[in-house]
Amino acid sequence: MMAIRKILRIGSPVLRQVSQPVPDNEMGSKELKNLIKDMHQTMNAANGVGLAAPQIGVLKQVVVVGQSDTERYADTIERSEYMVIINPKITPQENEVRGYWEGCLSVPDMRGYVERVRKIRMQWVDQHGTKFDEIIEGFDAVVYQHECDHLKGELYIDKLKDPLLFGFNEELDDEQDE
Ligand code: NI
Repeated sequence: MMAIRKILRIGSPVLRQVSQPVPDNEMGSKELKNLIKDMHQTMNAANGVGLAAPQIGVLKQVVVVGQSDTERYADTIERSEYMVIINPKITPQENEVRGYWEGCLSVPDMRGYVERVRKIRMQWVDQHGTKFDEIIEGFDAVVYQHECDHLKGELYIDKLKDPLLFGFNEELDDEQDE
Protein backbone atom coordinates (compact mmCIF):
# COMPACT_ATOMS: atom_id res chain seq x y z
CA MET A 1 0.00 0.00 0.00
CA MET A 2 1.38 3.35 -1.02
CA ALA A 3 0.32 6.52 0.65
CA ILE A 4 0.71 10.21 0.17
CA ARG A 5 2.03 11.50 3.47
CA LYS A 6 1.56 14.89 4.99
CA ILE A 7 4.54 17.17 4.40
CA LEU A 8 5.62 19.01 7.53
CA ARG A 9 6.02 22.75 7.13
CA ILE A 10 8.46 25.17 8.68
CA GLY A 11 7.58 25.67 12.32
CA SER A 12 7.39 21.94 12.95
CA PRO A 13 10.22 21.11 15.39
CA VAL A 14 10.77 17.76 13.62
CA LEU A 15 12.26 19.63 10.65
CA ARG A 16 14.97 20.96 12.97
CA GLN A 17 16.05 17.59 14.32
CA VAL A 18 19.00 15.52 13.16
CA SER A 19 18.14 12.30 11.30
CA GLN A 20 19.69 8.95 12.14
CA PRO A 21 21.61 6.82 9.62
CA VAL A 22 19.82 3.75 8.29
CA PRO A 23 21.60 0.72 9.78
CA ASP A 24 22.98 -2.00 7.48
CA ASN A 25 20.42 -4.55 8.63
CA GLU A 26 17.56 -2.35 7.39
CA MET A 27 18.89 -2.16 3.81
CA GLY A 28 16.52 -3.95 1.44
CA SER A 29 13.88 -4.26 4.16
CA LYS A 30 10.19 -3.98 3.46
CA GLU A 31 9.92 -1.08 5.87
CA LEU A 32 12.57 0.90 3.99
CA LYS A 33 11.01 -0.01 0.64
CA ASN A 34 7.62 1.26 1.82
CA LEU A 35 9.12 4.47 3.17
CA ILE A 36 10.77 5.18 -0.19
CA LYS A 37 7.57 4.43 -2.11
CA ASP A 38 5.64 6.81 0.09
CA MET A 39 8.32 9.46 -0.32
CA HIS A 40 8.23 9.18 -4.12
CA GLN A 41 4.47 9.36 -4.20
CA THR A 42 4.37 12.28 -1.78
CA MET A 43 7.03 14.16 -3.73
CA ASN A 44 5.27 13.63 -7.05
CA ALA A 45 1.88 14.65 -5.65
CA ALA A 46 3.46 17.86 -4.38
CA ASN A 47 5.32 18.41 -7.68
CA GLY A 48 8.70 18.56 -5.95
CA VAL A 49 12.19 17.68 -7.21
CA GLY A 50 13.35 16.25 -3.92
CA LEU A 51 12.09 15.10 -0.56
CA ALA A 52 13.87 14.12 2.65
CA ALA A 53 12.39 11.65 5.16
CA PRO A 54 12.20 14.19 8.02
CA GLN A 55 9.81 16.22 5.86
CA ILE A 56 7.26 13.45 6.36
CA GLY A 57 8.18 13.08 10.01
CA VAL A 58 10.64 10.19 9.71
CA LEU A 59 14.02 11.02 11.24
CA LYS A 60 16.07 8.72 9.01
CA GLN A 61 18.80 9.66 6.54
CA VAL A 62 16.77 8.96 3.41
CA VAL A 63 16.30 11.30 0.45
CA VAL A 64 14.50 10.83 -2.86
CA VAL A 65 15.22 13.01 -5.86
CA GLY A 66 13.55 13.14 -9.26
CA GLN A 67 10.47 14.24 -11.11
CA SER A 68 7.81 12.45 -13.09
CA ASP A 69 7.12 15.73 -14.84
CA THR A 70 10.49 15.68 -16.61
CA GLU A 71 9.32 18.20 -19.21
CA ARG A 72 9.39 20.97 -16.65
CA TYR A 73 12.90 20.21 -15.43
CA ALA A 74 14.33 18.75 -18.62
CA ASP A 75 17.00 21.42 -18.85
CA THR A 76 17.96 21.35 -15.20
CA ILE A 77 17.90 17.75 -14.00
CA GLU A 78 20.88 15.96 -15.45
CA ARG A 79 20.52 12.61 -13.77
CA SER A 80 18.11 9.74 -14.18
CA GLU A 81 14.51 10.26 -13.09
CA TYR A 82 14.70 8.82 -9.62
CA MET A 83 17.46 8.47 -7.14
CA VAL A 84 17.43 7.18 -3.61
CA ILE A 85 20.12 8.64 -1.38
CA ILE A 86 20.71 7.02 1.99
CA ASN A 87 23.30 7.95 4.63
CA PRO A 88 24.93 10.60 2.43
CA LYS A 89 28.23 12.24 3.12
CA ILE A 90 28.97 15.43 1.19
CA THR A 91 32.47 16.87 0.87
CA PRO A 92 32.98 20.21 -0.91
CA GLN A 93 35.46 19.94 -3.79
CA GLU A 94 36.20 23.63 -4.22
CA ASN A 95 35.52 26.99 -2.62
CA GLU A 96 33.70 28.44 -5.59
CA VAL A 97 30.00 28.99 -4.93
CA ARG A 98 27.05 29.43 -7.23
CA GLY A 99 23.68 30.99 -6.46
CA TYR A 100 20.25 29.64 -7.26
CA TRP A 101 16.70 30.52 -6.30
CA GLU A 102 15.59 27.61 -4.14
CA GLY A 103 12.23 26.44 -2.95
CA CYS A 104 11.20 23.76 -0.49
CA LEU A 105 8.04 21.71 -0.01
CA SER A 106 8.27 22.55 3.70
CA VAL A 107 8.29 26.28 2.94
CA PRO A 108 5.48 26.30 0.37
CA ASP A 109 4.88 29.03 -2.19
CA MET A 110 8.12 30.80 -1.34
CA ARG A 111 11.63 30.96 -2.70
CA GLY A 112 14.96 32.42 -1.74
CA TYR A 113 18.39 33.00 -3.19
CA VAL A 114 21.10 30.76 -1.76
CA GLU A 115 24.74 30.31 -2.65
CA ARG A 116 26.26 26.86 -2.35
CA VAL A 117 29.47 25.10 -3.23
CA ARG A 118 29.48 24.44 -6.96
CA LYS A 119 31.21 21.07 -6.91
CA ILE A 120 30.80 18.33 -4.31
CA ARG A 121 31.77 14.76 -3.66
CA MET A 122 28.84 12.69 -2.45
CA GLN A 123 29.12 9.22 -0.95
CA TRP A 124 25.92 7.35 -0.26
CA VAL A 125 24.12 4.02 -0.47
CA ASP A 126 20.86 3.17 -2.21
CA GLN A 127 17.98 1.15 -0.75
CA HIS A 128 19.82 -2.12 -1.43
CA GLY A 129 22.93 -0.95 0.39
CA THR A 130 24.92 -0.49 -2.85
CA LYS A 131 27.65 2.10 -2.37
CA PHE A 132 28.12 5.14 -4.60
CA ASP A 133 30.86 7.76 -4.67
CA GLU A 134 30.61 10.55 -7.24
CA ILE A 135 31.70 14.07 -8.05
CA ILE A 136 28.65 16.20 -8.75
CA GLU A 137 28.25 19.71 -10.15
CA GLY A 138 25.56 22.06 -11.39
CA PHE A 139 21.90 21.97 -10.47
CA ASP A 140 22.16 18.39 -9.15
CA ALA A 141 24.74 19.54 -6.61
CA VAL A 142 22.31 22.21 -5.42
CA VAL A 143 19.45 19.74 -5.03
CA TYR A 144 21.56 17.18 -3.17
CA GLN A 145 22.98 19.77 -0.79
CA HIS A 146 19.50 21.17 -0.14
CA GLU A 147 18.01 17.73 0.53
CA CYS A 148 20.92 16.52 2.65
CA ASP A 149 20.67 19.67 4.77
CA HIS A 150 17.21 18.45 5.81
CA LEU A 151 18.92 15.43 7.41
CA LYS A 152 20.88 17.83 9.62
CA GLY A 153 17.77 19.79 10.57
CA GLU A 154 18.73 22.69 8.31
CA LEU A 155 16.54 24.59 5.85
CA TYR A 156 17.56 26.77 2.92
CA ILE A 157 16.20 29.85 4.66
CA ASP A 158 19.10 29.48 7.15
CA LYS A 159 21.48 30.23 4.27
CA LEU A 160 19.82 33.11 2.44
CA LYS A 161 22.38 35.30 0.74
CA ASP A 162 20.31 38.36 1.62
CA PRO A 163 17.01 38.52 3.54
CA LEU A 164 15.66 40.71 0.74
CA LEU A 165 16.17 37.91 -1.77
CA PHE A 166 13.36 35.85 -0.27
CA GLY A 167 9.60 35.91 -0.42
CA PHE A 168 6.37 34.53 -1.73
CA ASN A 169 6.54 33.41 -5.36
CA GLU A 170 3.54 35.54 -6.28
CA GLU A 171 5.09 38.72 -4.92
CA LEU A 172 8.50 38.02 -6.45
CA ASP A 173 6.89 37.25 -9.81
CA ASP A 174 4.92 40.52 -9.72
CA GLU A 175 8.08 42.41 -8.91
CA GLN A 176 10.00 40.81 -11.75
CA ASP A 177 7.22 41.56 -14.24
CA GLU A 178 7.46 45.28 -13.66
NI1 NI B 1 13.51 21.22 1.09
